[in-house]
Amino acid sequence: MADNILLQVEGLKVAYGGIQAVKGVDFDVREGELVSLIGANGAGKTTTLKAVTGLQPVAVGDIKFLGRSIKGQGAWNLAKQGLVMVPEGRGTFTRMTITENLQMGAFIRKDNEIADDIEKVFGLFPRLKERRAQLAGTMSGGEQQMLAMGRALMARPKLLLLDEPSMGLSPIMVDKIFEVVNDIHQQGVTVLLVEQNASRALELATRGYVMESGAITMKGDGKALLNDPKVRAAYLGE
Ligand SMILES: Nc1ncnc2c1ncn2[C@@H]1O[C@H](COP(=O)(O)OP(=O)(O)OP(=O)(O)O)[C@@H](O)[C@H]1O
Ligand SMILES: [Mg+2]
Repeated sequence: MADNILLQVEGLKVAYGGIQAVKGVDFDVREGELVSLIGANGAGKTTTLKAVTGLQPVAVGDIKFLGRSIKGQGAWNLAKQGLVMVPEGRGTFTRMTITENLQMGAFIRKDNEIADDIEKVFGLFPRLKERRAQLAGTMSGGEQQMLAMGRALMARPKLLLLDEPSMGLSPIMVDKIFEVVNDIHQQGVTVLLVEQNASRALELATRGYVMESGAITMKGDGKALLNDPKVRAAYLGE
């Protein structure tokens, strides 16, 4: 394959009862890219990610990972193939320690480099190392976001899906999270980043898509979208 498509979403439609939340969406993510999917509240971004990860049934369309349909597959199967999501709201195991959460992230692995990878996660997030024995449920929102990202990395994903990692965090923590998203991408992990923070997400993006009312309305290079007057007017308050 020329530009090695990891994820291909084709004609995706998703409904909640009678309400169409995603109305025929096409996009792809190629190996090595950081693709940002931006859009306002209720645009259908999370619903799209849930359809990709089998948490929400696909009404119409197909989802392919490395050329094969993954429609309806659950988290375990997807992780084994290298597709891992950090959900909106993080979903850490609150009654386990940080180290235990990271070990859980490696549940699909049988190699003997898990302890080494925990040290790599601690390298990305020194804060987690300081608190390695603390229960996840007692950590701040930003720390839980770091842990959720660290746990996902423990699966050694080929493609990491991040749903609004900066949501609800303080400005300093937002800076830290985007810095680490960039580091993760620079280290060779392909990333699909869903964000309402359009400027930060597009600054880092190889390519981007804009979603409105269940449809993709614009797409292009990250920088081109960032400088597009329509994007700036609608999403950057200009
Ligand atoms: N479980 C559900 N049942 C019914 N409707 C839902 C459900 N989840 C989402 N929706 C609706 O689907 C639409 C898309 O929601 P979705 O969560 O995908 O948006 P989003 O782009 O992720 O928004 P945000 O940026 O606020 O997270 C919204 O109108 C929402 O109300
Ligand atoms: Mg959402």
